[in-house]
Amino acid sequence: MSSLFGPLSAGALSLPNRVVMAPMTRNRAGADGVPGPLMAEYYAQRASAGLIITEGVRVSAAGHGPVGQPGLHTRAQIEGWSRVTDAVHRAGGRIVAQLTHHGRIAHPDLLPQGVQPVAPSAVTARSDARTAKGLVPTVPPRAMEVADISETLNDFAAAAMAAVAAGFDGVELQGGNGYLIHQFLSDGTNLRDDAYGGDAAGRVRFAVDAVRAVAGVIGADRTGLRISPGTGYNDTAEHDPALTYGLLAEALEPENLAYLHVVEGPDQGLPRLLRERWTGVIISSPFTGDDPTDPDTARDVLDSGRADAVSFARYFAANPDLPERIRAGAPLTEPDPDTFHDGDAEGYTDYAAHRPAVA
Ligand SMILES: Cc1cc2nc3c(=O)[nH]c(=O)nc-3n(C[C@H](O)[C@H](O)[C@H](O)COP(=O)(O)O)c2cc1C
Repeated sequence: MSSLFGPLSAGALSLPNRVVMAPMTRNRAGADGVPGPLMAEYYAQRASAGLIITEGVRVSAAGHGPVGQPGLHTRAQIEGWSRVTDAVHRAGGRIVAQLTHHGRIAHPDLLPQGVQPVAPSAVTARSDARTAKGLVPTVPPRAMEVADISETLNDFAAAAMAAVAAGFDGVELQGGNGYLIHQFLSDGTNLRDDAYGGDAAGRVRFAVDAVRAVAGVIGADRTGLRISPGTGYNDTAEHDPALTYGLLAEALEPENLAYLHVVEGPDQGLPRLLRERWTGVIISSPFTGDDPTDPDTARDVLDSGRADAVSFARYFAANPDLPERIRAGAPLTEPDPDTFHDGDAEGYTDYAAHRPAVA
């Protein structure tokens, strides 16, 4: 039986515990996508996590996600992140950057002048983009040409190198939640008939190429991948996730990645199938309905053997010293969803750490 407090080796990453901080978009970067001192303070406060996975960080201006999202494609952004990684390392932590491209969930209001969101196919998402005007409906995307695909793969590789230059311990590719990589995996959004579509083997190709592009420049042992099979996020229909993700796992298994991060849906068969196909480290973001992932669920996941570590999002937002609280059996502070996105220190860096009562 694994404990949440046993150490874990994940490629080049040495986690002192298995309580991982899940990626959480908090929209506190400046308009230029540069992380400031508040973000450094926020992440450093959470340095006792076995591993911190940052919020989604865009790999290019064309892949812009929500307003307030940081990037890793300019010198100023790299310098901003250097101060974040320094602060986390000084506090004893480990931190990887979640690299993302929003594809059709991007919005022209956030893209360079005249640039249209791109996607594997011209299928509009029934979803919203978070712009300076609030949540607005997504627009029809432009289907990517093969040249766009090559350029985007280069963007992922360049952002991974930028991440290492900024002092990150590694990167996680965002392959879930309905963003670009997931849009290629989904048979509802990928209607291509070239090598990047057509059947499940074609639909996994972009994810595999993106992972290899990143692993090729920073090392597979510093590269992780997050997927959210069959969850439907951002209008990504998947009619045969077992086939698609089984193929994806088979294709990436020999690469010896640092880890696979699996966002679970209600269908427990998929995480079990991935565990059978993946001999490397799996981090789970368990399915808990509307409730935040709690310590009992995390222990059950480890006991079931389907993952080696568990990521917590909302409870890490509200409990900067979450591992210590879990270890002490201390009560957890409930997060305030009104302060998840945008804003300042309130609901971001002002959650108190647990202090054991002095007898
Ligand atoms: C405010 C907020 C922002 C999130 N942003 C991201 C993100 O940038 N990338 C990502 O992969 N998942 C993101 N997620 C999903 C979480 O990583 C996690 O999978 C989900 O919240 C379930 O974990 P929990 O029950 O511990 O909150 C976000 C969740 C929340 C609550």
